Amino acid sequence: MTETIRLLIAAGASGAWLALVGTTVWAHRVRRAVPLAEGAVLVAHASQTGTAAAYAKATAEALRDSGRQVALTSFAHLTPEMLARTGEALFIVATTGEGDAPDDAAGFLRKFRAGSPRLDGLRYALLALGDSHYRNFCGFGRAFDRLLRDSGATHAADPVEVDQADPGALRHWQQNLRLFGAAVALPDWEAPRYGEWRLAERELLNPGSPGGQMYRVRIEPATAPSEWAAGDIAEVYPGPADRALEGQAALPHRDYSIATIPADGAIELVVRLFVDPSGNRGLGSGWLCEGAVLGERIALRVRSNPRFHTPAAGVPLILVGNGTGISSLRSHLKARPAGTRNWLIFGERDPLRDRPFAGELDDWLRSGHLARLQRVFSRAGTALCHVQHVVAAETGSLAEWVDSGAAVMVCGSVAMGEAVDEALRAALGAERIDALQDQGRYCRDVY
Ligand SMILES: Cc1cc2nc3c(=O)[nH]c(=O)nc-3n(C[C@H](O)[C@H](O)[C@H](O)COP(=O)(O)O)c2cc1C
Repeated sequence: MTETIRLLIAAGASGAWLALVGTTVWAHRVRRAVPLAEGAVLVAHASQTGTAAAYAKATAEALRDSGRQVALTSFAHLTPEMLARTGEALFIVATTGEGDAPDDAAGFLRKFRAGSPRLDGLRYALLALGDSHYRNFCGFGRAFDRLLRDSGATHAADPVEVDQADPGALRHWQQNLRLFGAAVALPDWEAPRYGEWRLAERELLNPGSPGGQMYRVRIEPATAPSEWAAGDIAEVYPGPADRALEGQAALPHRDYSIATIPADGAIELVVRLFVDPSGNRGLGSGWLCEGAVLGERIALRVRSNPRFHTPAAGVPLILVGNGTGISSLRSHLKARPAGTRNWLIFGERDPLRDRPFAGELDDWLRSGHLARLQRVFSRAGTALCHVQHVVAAETGSLAEWVDSGAAVMVCGSVAMGEAVDEALRAALGAERIDALQDQGRYCRDVY
């Protein structure tokens, strides 16, 4: 491997999963693309939570190891002009929302549709990531493929669609890399390894809540301390760790935003216990909230989520979220050094019982680490009961913060994310929000 990153793929009965382990933490969330050198192949990723970005890095490494020059970039730094000048490209794209493009592709798509560039000189392959539980399976991958072909670009191979990291589809993609000069005998993308961790604490955060039980789950590394960054995602194996630690995972992992920073010495997750009408527990939440006993071994690995890393200290930060979204918002607040300007808008249900991390948040408000803290509750019977209402009521302050360079990060439910997006566009203007998104100053982690 030529880079410090290690890309690992785990083959399991129902899927292969790829993780970035031991990643270097990006100094800046927004990195500029390498200018495309003569003869270089472009590898571009559109990724909401880091998976497509990780596969793109693995793809770029495989090509570089075979002696090809590669320009690796996020869609955030891709322009239609760049594509029009490119002869060969590999696209690795996820789908989010309801068949939508990841946020980092929004600016590119706007420019592409406005400019309708001709791409007659472009030969490409496309890896579309998705999950067939969603109605619009690989919706963005398919739409983007149509867009490219309508613009005159030609397939080097048919698009490969990956359902939850299906290992067969990934091997197919590896085969396609040979069409771009990758070595005939590519080494298999290594089986990923879960790390060994231990369940250290479990605390019910909302006793008596009208909503589902929400737990703080503390998981300590069993061996060496681990590295991660605020905004990263913990992939947890949802069952006894033994077989998963031996590389024999029989179940797909579950994703959780990390609520702590490495200085805390452990990963904490905020997990809502899912219970269906018949009383069955969700696989992941049932395991973390009830199944695993204290002290039990947990198979866990960290996936880097560079789009959602903490902005630089000089950038004021507006955090908006609801429910278990408090998890990554808390990790960002922990990661922000003293003297930074931070504003938290957080929504839950019951004003008495749904106050996760109230002590910490109040302390941050008292110390000035939080310049502003607004908690709203949907069951409070007040006019301002959802976070989007606060956004709408605070237009002046929001504009002032954004004018002074602030970034906006949103974490929590999909419905909340959409309502906040609408409120932000109404408050600050759609163009302003698009520009923030293009600059990496407006990012969402919704699920
Ligand atoms: C909120 C959300 C919405 C999603 N919507 C879709 C969808 O409409 N169609 C689909 O095929 N996959 C959907 N997925 C699955 C992702 O495309 C899949 O997990 C992918 O590997 C994520 O890649 P990323 O980490 O690069 O964003 C969705 C995932 C999330 C979290």
